[in-house]
Amino acid sequence: MKVASHQLRCTQCAAGIAPEAAPADFRCPVCGGLYEVIYPWSSTANQASTRTPGTVMPDVRLPNPSALRWLWQERRTSTMAVDQSGVWRFRDLLPILDNPESPVTLREGNTPLYDLPRCAKALGLDFLLAKHQGMNPTGSFKDTGMTAALSVALERNFEWVACASTGNTSAAMAAYASRAGLRSIVLIPEGKIAWGKLSQSMDYGAITLQLRTDFDGCVRILSELIRRLPIYLLNSVNPYRAEGQKTPAFELVEQLEWQVPEHIVVPGGNLANGAALGKGFREMRELGLIARVPKISVIQAEGANPLFRSMQENDGAHVTPVIADTRASAIRIGNPASFRKAVDTIHSTGGWCEQATEGEIALAKAQIGAEGVGCEPASAVTLAGLKKLVASGRITPEERVVLILTGHTLKDPEYTIDYHRGSLLRDDEIAQATPAELALHLSLRKPPTVLDADTDTVLRTIEAVIETPVHA
Ligand code: F0G
Repeated sequence: MKVASHQLRCTQCAAGIAPEAAPADFRCPVCGGLYEVIYPWSSTANQASTRTPGTVMPDVRLPNPSALRWLWQERRTSTMAVDQSGVWRFRDLLPILDNPESPVTLREGNTPLYDLPRCAKALGLDFLLAKHQGMNPTGSFKDTGMTAALSVALERNFEWVACASTGNTSAAMAAYASRAGLRSIVLIPEGKIAWGKLSQSMDYGAITLQLRTDFDGCVRILSELIRRLPIYLLNSVNPYRAEGQKTPAFELVEQLEWQVPEHIVVPGGNLANGAALGKGFREMRELGLIARVPKISVIQAEGANPLFRSMQENDGAHVTPVIADTRASAIRIGNPASFRKAVDTIHSTGGWCEQATEGEIALAKAQIGAEGVGCEPASAVTLAGLKKLVASGRITPEERVVLILTGHTLKDPEYTIDYHRGSLLRDDEIAQATPAELALHLSLRKPPTVLDADTDTVLRTIEAVIETPVHA
């Protein structure tokens, strides 16, 4: 009998499988469902259906909650990379590596928690925070998952890794693969990803293939490739990605001195991230680190809203894929792989799903920018969706809300420049705005001014700006 630190369990039919026996596409051979990693201390570990023949889970005694809190705090003062990483600092709760002391790390995590006082005031909330996952080494939340899954790929002796991506997964994969000395293949939809992200995959040395299709088309091609070549799949169906992506939940409550906010709001694309954070909160509750889990709400762009539609039409019972179209290119996804996991997360935490129009996303992004924080368009859907949750009374003023900002503003500078120059939104999109939204757009837009290099001209221009009243 092999003693395993963890197993994989199908989130749909609960069948267990040994980690080395997982199929290359990480789909359960019984029902096609996605796997999650479970540990000897997971609440589901000892269900008969989960037990994998030929494998036993050891009887692990975890340190008590206060000892864990102390240990995680203590590691912050260490000079070792594994301790400095905001993912591996919590390695006691993700024992997925045979050699846990030397993961492939870029010191990811440790992201700031900012308050957004002006956005809070505009919404009538007492408390609004943003956990900025765009402050990771490659500028997006994907780094936390990639350090975990790439470290597994290295231990399993893969030479090649690959992903289909809207740009951030590919940037993260390319960086971590290069650090590990592995080779990486990126499949991205041609013309549909932001320049910052495209440049990253080349800079970090990936083989970059721009396919004349959309993200969903790239996923289809990649699922064929992994059947024919010995490539390790690093899309978010890989259950080890979620193990890294659950750690911002630990970091967040630690930053709040172990207080749990009422709401977490995440953007929804392929729908893995909300579920990963949900797993993090669930495990903390099971281990006695926190007393309850927050509500997790997922916000989609109106042009890429299969989850929103499904929740409206059949309460998440089934999904009908859509042809996705939104300028928030990171979440331009019509057939989300982790649909079921996202529905389960929303249902089990009591959260909601909302959608935001292109105009609402652009306005929310400008508001987050004007706080001196900034984010990429896909991240701004969180604020746009939050406005609807507050307006409908689903979130009340005294409740504490944390937006998960998933990507850095520099990922997609073209979007920002077009917005401020006034060339982003079409007339029909602007016409949808309320008078209050229009006024906000006008006060937030800061188009660049081209001037002759003449002191008087520059002075006159500045004086005109100084005389213009600033919005509150
Ligand atoms: N925000 C950003 C900035 C993203 O890059 C993504 C997904 C999401 C939100 C949505 O997260 O898929 O877990 O619901 N980007 C993927 C990629 C699809 O390929 O980079 P999700």
